[in-house]
Amino acid sequence: MSNYDVIVIGAGPGGYVSAIRCAQLGLKTAVVEGRETLGGTCLNVGCIPSKALLNATHHLHEAEHNFATMGLKGKSPSVDWKQMKSYKQDVVGQNTGGIEFLFKKNKIDWIKGWATIPAAGQVKVGDDIYQTKNIVIASGSVPSSLPGVEIDNDKGIVVDSTGALDLPKIPKKMTVIGAGVIGLELGSVYARLGSEVTVVEYMDAITPGMDADVQRTFKRLLEKQGLKFVMGAAVSGVETTKTKAKVNYTLKKDDSAHVQDADVVLVATGRKPFVDGLGLAELGVEMTERGQVKTDAHWATNVNGIYAIGDAIVGPMLAHKAEDEGMAVAEVMAGKHGHVNYDVIPGVIYTSPEVATVGKTEAELKAEGRKIKVGKFSFMGNARAKAVFQGEGFVKLIADAETDRVLGAAIIGPAAGDMIHEICVAMEFGGSAQDIAMTCHAHPTYSEAVREAALSCGDGPIHA
Ligand code: NAI
Repeated sequence: MSNYDVIVIGAGPGGYVSAIRCAQLGLKTAVVEGRETLGGTCLNVGCIPSKALLNATHHLHEAEHNFATMGLKGKSPSVDWKQMKSYKQDVVGQNTGGIEFLFKKNKIDWIKGWATIPAAGQVKVGDDIYQTKNIVIASGSVPSSLPGVEIDNDKGIVVDSTGALDLPKIPKKMTVIGAGVIGLELGSVYARLGSEVTVVEYMDAITPGMDADVQRTFKRLLEKQGLKFVMGAAVSGVETTKTKAKVNYTLKKDDSAHVQDADVVLVATGRKPFVDGLGLAELGVEMTERGQVKTDAHWATNVNGIYAIGDAIVGPMLAHKAEDEGMAVAEVMAGKHGHVNYDVIPGVIYTSPEVATVGKTEAELKAEGRKIKVGKFSFMGNARAKAVFQGEGFVKLIADAETDRVLGAAIIGPAAGDMIHEICVAMEFGGSAQDIAMTCHAHPTYSEAVREAALSCGDGPIHA
């Protein structure tokens, strides 16, 4: 059997990026992946396929609601669901194939199958045992359901995000449990496809933990698109017949019991680390109370030569957080200094409008007793946003009241997920609101709204 410097377990964004960086740093590297294609949840059944469906249904929405206003007359397109799913799979195929190409280019071996770790320095796949100096656990996460709710993606009635990406037909009525990222992205896909979508959420605000201004505006804009919300509702179970489901929930405010009928129920109540079958308990790898692999500041577990990154460890379950950790742990194993700045990890929701955040929220900073300035600018004052019917969001920039250093931001508006990075770069460099305000921004762009929010932290915006 071959001897490796590194064997990475899992070929999601954390694992495949880590493997490529290891290979670039001269380490002999293999990746164990049991799926038929590389790319993990993100490329196969997560970020990428959902973005294809969001793109297709965004165009449908534009055709139905905005084309006539722009002088584009004619019948709105009809939906060929089979073709839309095939387009989605094609996008997935191009991306997973791309990773296979990158593995060949970087001379990374793909060991096909599911790995166990019989001992430090060994990885077993099927009957084969591979020797390796280091192991990186990048095994990701799986949807976590609720007690009393059984997910069956094959039946297509009570589904998780994987099932929701491949429903046999567009449901008339969909109930989404959980107003988090998955629930809102996929809920808005089906709302645009004509489903009557009701989101049942335990908390009193959508996207828990996010900036309160964004939560309010985001909910209002989604309601305008037809999504209905039941807030403060604890789902206790789902009953199914052959073709339908009933979601049972209790309203927290008065303890009253309710039932919501649906053709399809999407359970989007979070994800949990996936470490089944790795043999971590037998190895004595320490875990957190929430079932995550415990690591130190260099992604090392308590067992020598075993590292862990991504959704399997503590922190936000985001592909780009896993990628950063993957690159950093490769540097560590190569004897360099890998680093991840956890204070500057953006979060994006790819609805329309998009929502993007970075750093701390106004509420968090106030709770810390920090003196802050808040600069807010509405896209109503941005010519470009108005031209695409997206004047309703805003950019909110938060800076230290004394030093003017940028501490956080939230954007709800067109291309927010791309615009947030200018703020991320400013934060990485310890930049101030004034640094952003003094940077020339091309006109007309959405990014001018970021500059205006930065100006609002100082002498004031121009277009408000
Ligand atoms: P989430 O943690 O974002 O949201 C789950 C929601 O379910 C919460 O609002 C919670 O209050 C609610 N909930 C929990 N139990 C409930 C109950 N019994 N009744 C009613 N509501 C209940 O989880 P989600 O959306 O499933 O996403 C999982 C992970 O995947 C997250 O970490 C997310 O960040 C990540 N993800 C990120 C994406 C992105 O960056 N665009 C896209 C998709 C997923």
